[in-house]
Amino acid sequence: MEDRFGHHIRYLRVSLTDRCNERCQYCMPHEEQDWLPRAEILSYEEILRVIRIGADLGISKIRITGGEPLTRRNVLWFFEQLSAVPGIDDIGISTNGTLLARRDKDDRTTARALQETGVRTVNVSLDTLDHKTYAEVTGRDILGEAIAGIDAAREAGFEKIKINTVLMRHRNEHELWDLIEFARERDLLLRFIELMPVSTTEVLTEDNFLSSGEAKKIIEFRLGRLAPRPDVRTNGPSSYYEIPGSGQIIGFIGAMSNLHFCETCNKLRLTCDGKLRPCLGSHLEFDMREILRDPDKTDRDIARFFLHVVERKPEQHEFRENYQPDRKMIAIGG
Ligand code: 5AD
Ligand code: SF4
Repeated sequence: MEDRFGHHIRYLRVSLTDRCNERCQYCMPHEEQDWLPRAEILSYEEILRVIRIGADLGISKIRITGGEPLTRRNVLWFFEQLSAVPGIDDIGISTNGTLLARRDKDDRTTARALQETGVRTVNVSLDTLDHKTYAEVTGRDILGEAIAGIDAAREAGFEKIKINTVLMRHRNEHELWDLIEFARERDLLLRFIELMPVSTTEVLTEDNFLSSGEAKKIIEFRLGRLAPRPDVRTNGPSSYYEIPGSGQIIGFIGAMSNLHFCETCNKLRLTCDGKLRPCLGSHLEFDMREILRDPDKTDRDIARFFLHVVERKPEQHEFRENYQPDRKMIAIGG
């Protein structure tokens, strides 16, 4: 599938749930959450049908997100089915990590179980190494669980483990070096993410925003000049740099300040309630659930729908244009 701007779409991010065991300030509003009613959430069978049809159209990479995907019941069954879909050769999960070290009755960690079902990469959100800050940012005092989860993932032998750190002034700007050290010791690929206006929350103020450029300066102040490594690429919009001396690679995801951010975009998003979104930073979304639940609609209709959405994919996000989010990030899938 190719859009009007020559982007080849081969990556689908799928949100399994809008629920989460954390309450990150930048992801959801502070007041009590109204979770989506059960009937509005796509079933695993519905999601797998979408993925099968997407795979026929050239989707080869799937990343499972949430909310927190590991809070959904029978999630391992879903991953098993997913890895059996022909054409899907790269499966990843984005998680807050806090449930990865949980053990089943055979003493197997969730991380290990995921690895055994064919998950190749794990992205763990970790914004701070300080217990107090972690509790403030996520609303839960469970930094220990997140770190245990990262360790469980390392033991499970994934091909790649990435750490995503959302940059926040006053919150973690003094910890960037510690996070780098943490990642280096554990051989994790650390990426710093600029705060994006994807959520209707209070923290998204100018004052809390810390740009990649500033973060880079803070890091360079202590660690020396970062050398750009354009040859290092993951599947997304991250720019990578090498730290002098150690050779450690770190990334920056600068949706707000990087003007080339959208040029290599290859993805679509499926929300847990069945909306197909062509771009995180646009209000465009198309309801797939209605077609999925219409007995008169066939796989061909769904394939046509995919192409219709790709056709409407914008050239770039609208974050720099005073973008007002209409959904909570938690209901889109990071
Ligand atoms: N800005 C930037 N990143 C965000 N994430 C969630 N909300 C935001 C936001 N407003 C991140 C999470 C996770 C990833 C899936 O998205 O921290 O790492
Ligand atoms: Fe949960 Fe992730 Fe949102 Fe935090 S950012 S509330 S961990 S879904």
